[in-house]
Amino acid sequence: MPQQGTCTVIVGCQWGDEGKGKIVDVLAEDVDIVARYQGGANAGHTVKVGEELFVLHQIPSGILHDGKRCLLGNGVVLDIVQFFQEYDALVARGIELDGHVGVSLRAQLLLPYHRLLDQASESSAAEKIGTTGRGIGPAYEDKAGRRGVRVADLGNAERLAKRVGEARERTRRRLELLGAKGPADLDRAIDEALALGPRLLDIACDPGLEITTALRAGRRVLLEGAQGTALDLDHGTYPFVTSSNTTAAAAATGTGIGPTWIDAVVGVVKAYTTRVGEGPLPTALDPDMDEKVRQLGGEFGATTGRPRRCGWFDSVITRYASQVNGLTGVAVTKLDVLDTLPELKVATAYKLPDGCVTESFPADTWSLSAVEPVYETLPGWLAPTGNVRRLADLPRNARAYLDRIEELTRAPVQWVSVGVKRSQIIPVG
Ligand code: IMP
Repeated sequence: MPQQGTCTVIVGCQWGDEGKGKIVDVLAEDVDIVARYQGGANAGHTVKVGEELFVLHQIPSGILHDGKRCLLGNGVVLDIVQFFQEYDALVARGIELDGHVGVSLRAQLLLPYHRLLDQASESSAAEKIGTTGRGIGPAYEDKAGRRGVRVADLGNAERLAKRVGEARERTRRRLELLGAKGPADLDRAIDEALALGPRLLDIACDPGLEITTALRAGRRVLLEGAQGTALDLDHGTYPFVTSSNTTAAAAATGTGIGPTWIDAVVGVVKAYTTRVGEGPLPTALDPDMDEKVRQLGGEFGATTGRPRRCGWFDSVITRYASQVNGLTGVAVTKLDVLDTLPELKVATAYKLPDGCVTESFPADTWSLSAVEPVYETLPGWLAPTGNVRRLADLPRNARAYLDRIEELTRAPVQWVSVGVKRSQIIPVG
């Protein structure tokens, strides 16, 4: 296959919230197409352009650059109402979207009953996942159960009415079983969502065809993941995961291109660890330190506002992410958040409940709750890094910290982000 363009996947290497939005925004400058390959409105990508702050949930962060084509692949579950709210809000802020945004005809629609079911099953579950409540699980359940509604179905009124009618009935029965009441206005909410169908069909497309045609013509493409490796449905801390494959291989299936087109995978790694929702966080900080890092890093969910739990850098998970994603490089984010800490711990391995020490990420999530991280301690740098633009200008201890991250993760550091602004990025090498 003649390969002329470049195709890079951007993937989160921890539990999401690594700062992928910022990295995609920075790298989007040099590409022609940015495509999202999974997830839905559970994601929240925060990007600062000049003095303006943007939080994007479904539209790829590349949209904040002029002239880029931004696509949502077949792997996403598209919340049609939320999508157009986001779309219109961007237009109102002067962003040019006409002709720049496309949605796969094969993408699944996330409709109001999915949110309802998500919230009802969370509140009745004995073991909660701590979902974002955006309907992600039920929408992917419908997809795998082959009863979902796809964007292409919006063009066939009869089929659409039949599928949605069956879904209403199923939702009613499920809610009854869960002991939850459906809101009186569910039918109206569904009708309002479907009324946006013609508008969505206007921008519907075939991203797989578009991307491969562009690559053949020598164009450059970014495939943008949402959430992170440890939230991957297969490779993450199951069942405390999201309902899609977040990892790099899904970028091919989630956009409709062959995996041989992908020539780089950049893993986004936060300089420490955070997690929102339920499930183990082996390197969790003690309560005082947790609060301190949360405040320093502004660690509150961009979608739900929930406080994120904070932990020391965990190389067991980033090394695993390097393996699962086949990382060719790493972008380290939020290094500046650690500027004032006198010393930093890095987990290099886990001590298992039976006393064995492992450097591999355990498959048994419950044993992960009982591991004791094996730490090494590195000195902090106690100097501001937000204005640094060259690696050589970083304090020596900050460079040593990055070297250690690189060594333990087993992938070269290619970018270091030292603040929310576009300009606050250090290219490495
Ligand atoms: P869901 O994706 O809403 O079903 O939530 C499943 C799990 O993934 C929960 O622990 C959420 O907190 C987590 N999650 C989902 N999206 C994100 C995200 O964008 N960042 C961080 N965590 C997320």
